[in-house]
Amino acid sequence: TALPKDLFAAVEQLKKDLNAVILAHYYQEPEIQDVADYIGDSLGLSQQAAATDADVIVFAGVHFMAETAKILNPHKLVLLPDLEAGCSLAESCPPAAFAKFKAAHPDHFVISYINCTAEIKAMSDLICTSSNAVKLVNQLPPEQPIIFAPDRNLGRYVMAQTGRDMVLWQGSCIVHETFSEKKILQLKMEYPQAEIIAHPECEAPVLRHASFVGSTTALLKHVQQSSCNQFIVVTEPGIIHQMEKQVPEKLFIPAPPMNNCACNECPHMRLNTLEKLYLAMKNRSPEITLPAEVQTAALRPIQKMLEMSA
Ligand code: 13P
Ligand code: SF4
Repeated sequence: TALPKDLFAAVEQLKKDLNAVILAHYYQEPEIQDVADYIGDSLGLSQQAAATDADVIVFAGVHFMAETAKILNPHKLVLLPDLEAGCSLAESCPPAAFAKFKAAHPDHFVISYINCTAEIKAMSDLICTSSNAVKLVNQLPPEQPIIFAPDRNLGRYVMAQTGRDMVLWQGSCIVHETFSEKKILQLKMEYPQAEIIAHPECEAPVLRHASFVGSTTALLKHVQQSSCNQFIVVTEPGIIHQMEKQVPEKLFIPAPPMNNCACNECPHMRLNTLEKLYLAMKNRSPEITLPAEVQTAALRPIQKMLEMSA
């Protein structure tokens, strides 16, 4: 069937018909961000999913994010425009291997970064995001041994910030690993006034050159508040759409990847398109479903995160 000429208007109409809310991550393509009711980082998106009174949640993000929304709303319809929109971090931590890892470290408290599957969440004591990880780890008793999964880069960053030792699962994000320290420094020579700002999923050699490190929301706030007018942005470039909207007079330079052919857009996030979002709403599919026992077990550590970061 032919798509409507004005997809924006058609999506707006479907929002009303379904009593739906569209939650989008900053790494979504600009036209999806422009049709969303709320755009945020992973913590903000979970808080919105927990608070919404809409009947249908359309999640413009990746699978683990939509899953989190479903865990928080087991009786609501949660749609994801493309079910194939996964995450390399979530994939890097298969449940059976993680169960063994956990068994090898008894007495450890398990903190999992929200970028993991519902099965991993169900095996965790606490969930964190890049915006609250340091704050949450600081709230745990100093003698408590900790497993941190699945992102070793965020884990290492949290260890440096808190001075705590943690056992790290060795996962990483394919997008944040592609940034080149050398090319960022070359760019800094071209733009000596620019501030380097980075996401904590980046590797340590890149992070050490950043004058500000934070979640997507924190990066967006920072460029608004900073007295600097130029930024080398070391994260997925989707965030630059909002940066340019919020502070159009400033310059945002996406950090280059190592390989000239490689692209630093997240291939998973970018599977969603405005067309697929429209079709998902029209067809009320594809929807997120989860086994009841996983759903129940995964809810506890997410709720704990929401309480501890309030
Ligand atoms: P935040 O938006 O929470 O910083 O997460 C970044 C990310 O990589 C999401 O997949
Ligand atoms: Fe996963 Fe990285 Fe893509 Fe975020 S940017 S969804 S962490 S692969």
